[in-house]
Amino acid sequence: MKRTETSAPILMFDSGIGGLTVLREARVLMPDRRFVYVADDAAFPYGDWEEPELNARIVGLFGELLERFRPEIAVIPCNTASTLSLASLRAAYPRTPFVGTVPAVKPAAERTRSGLVSVLATPGTVKRQYTRDLIAQWAQKCHVRLVGSTQLARLAETYMRHGFVDEEAVRAEIAPCFIEQDGRRTDIVVLACTHYPFLANRMRKTAPWPVDWLDPAEAIARRALSLLAPSAAHGDTRTEPRDLAVFTSGKADFATRRLMQGFGLSLEE
Ligand code: DGL
Repeated sequence: MKRTETSAPILMFDSGIGGLTVLREARVLMPDRRFVYVADDAAFPYGDWEEPELNARIVGLFGELLERFRPEIAVIPCNTASTLSLASLRAAYPRTPFVGTVPAVKPAAERTRSGLVSVLATPGTVKRQYTRDLIAQWAQKCHVRLVGSTQLARLAETYMRHGFVDEEAVRAEIAPCFIEQDGRRTDIVVLACTHYPFLANRMRKTAPWPVDWLDPAEAIARRALSLLAPSAAHGDTRTEPRDLAVFTSGKADFATRRLMQGFGLSLEE
């Protein structure tokens, strides 16, 4: 793999386009930083993978990405990858600071009034021990329902590329999040997959009653900002677009290219 010679960027890694929900927040907080956005689309969706195979893939890919881009920090705006591989990545690449994304169970437990919280995530994130440990640690006093969705990440990918979303499918996927128990109702749904905020309007529209949809994107961006050396923040005089998108399939289609352009990312040829 060839080396890219520029000031150290912030690397963002997701299975697809979901991490763009975090990139847009990160850009607001760090307008003078350069970003490399990596979508492992060759392996999308991560939610369907078995754990050992996916972990090996992610750790292997990072070896190449860190060598090539030498980022100041690596952000993984992907719950499915973070809940599985964060510890392995930190152990394998101790010189790189990693910012992970894990289901926002703690803030949800702090905010809920009814005590009924749902965590909407990929099937992978739902079955992780990491997720179960978060609930045991932070949400003992709540009733937390884990809802694994097989379709929403795909629906978000289609929506962002083609502007179309099957609302009935969204309704069906989010329906299990809504519980009524002893006169109380679910009041918070944690969006524990970075793809889902793209569908937030459709979720609001098809939800049986209003809830808070917890999107951790801004919190992740803040965490990333807190790890950057202040001295490294500088104005950037290079010509636009300065940020790069890498798709591991090497086969981004026209709609994907257009989407990346819309996010100010130039696609690697
Ligand atoms: N965006 C991802 C997440 O935050 C995963 C989507 C997928 O690949 O299944 O969990």
